[in-house]
Amino acid sequence: MERKNIDWGNLGFNYVQTDMRYVSNFKNGAWDDGCLTDQANITMSECACVLQYAQTCFEGLKAYTTENGHIVCFRPDLNASRMADSARRLKMPVFPEDRFVEAVVETVRANAQWVPPYGSGATLYVRPFMFGSDAIIGVKPATEYQFRVFVTPVGPYFKGGAKPVTVRISDLDRAAPRGTGHVKAGLNYAMSLYNIVDAHEQGYDENVYVDSATRTHIEETGGANIIFIKGNTLVTPKSDTILPSITRRSLLYVAKEYLNMEVEERPVFLSEIGDFEEAGLCGTAAVISPIGTIDDHGTLYRYAGMGDGIQKLYDTLTGIQMGRIEAPEGWIKVIE
Ligand code: PLP
Ligand code: COI
Repeated sequence: MERKNIDWGNLGFNYVQTDMRYVSNFKNGAWDDGCLTDQANITMSECACVLQYAQTCFEGLKAYTTENGHIVCFRPDLNASRMADSARRLKMPVFPEDRFVEAVVETVRANAQWVPPYGSGATLYVRPFMFGSDAIIGVKPATEYQFRVFVTPVGPYFKGGAKPVTVRISDLDRAAPRGTGHVKAGLNYAMSLYNIVDAHEQGYDENVYVDSATRTHIEETGGANIIFIKGNTLVTPKSDTILPSITRRSLLYVAKEYLNMEVEERPVFLSEIGDFEEAGLCGTAAVISPIGTIDDHGTLYRYAGMGDGIQKLYDTLTGIQMGRIEAPEGWIKVIE
């Protein structure tokens, strides 16, 4: 297979229009058969529920070329079930989980030429999403929906690649108790845009949100969960208002089963972040991005950056994803 002629090593995290995408429409109470299309643009009513009331949710996963030349993706079944949770919370019809995985596979296969080669540092980011598409003016759910999957080749999420990030404790909140922080609703990201632009203007890479009820414990950033390391222990915040990151859940397993680390998933208090030696952001886009500094209103907490613990976790997780290390049963979906 001939790959696209792209400077894979210098890709940022940007949209590049690829050849094919998957589309299925929901109408009269049922999803249609769905198909691949080359049409990247969408035409819909000016009053579509997604445009008026942000009735949309999405997922993010990646496809990789492994060391032995296969194209694979990582735990797509977990994205399928998380999207089902998001859909239920937003009163949208669930796109069947087996069909979700099949749509991801078909879309990646149809764009195989866009999958970055092994060792290039780039990956193919896969973005399933769905939205309410018919005209809705009173506040209520749509009756028609579209589910789509597109792919785009990407490099590192944070400018500077593996350079440790600098983050700040945010004054604004991301998620309310009993709100939508635990699902991947577009609205969670719309409301973070003001804050991320402000953070960048002030020289920070991301915002660290604390719980909005008590403002005493650490939640996550706008686009990734957080991990901390002290000695041989991996600590990660437990909260009902953060996104259940598939990367974080995988890292907890990898730390315990592959690296013999202790793992703690528990509330992490702002008052204890100075006790940790290493810290990082984890997610599909972020992979594991080491944190250099957390700035809490002028109090600077400094971490080891790519320290031994973060490095081991990074090497093991990416080793599993790229086929260098044997994966736990069911983690790797071979596409071709
Ligand atoms: N938290 C937020 C708010 C995110 O947007 C993401 C990205 O998907 C994550 C965490 C990481 O989740 P995952 O590891 O499933 O990509
Ligand atoms: C992902 O990691 O897949 C996300 O959705 C995060 C987003 C901020 C790009």
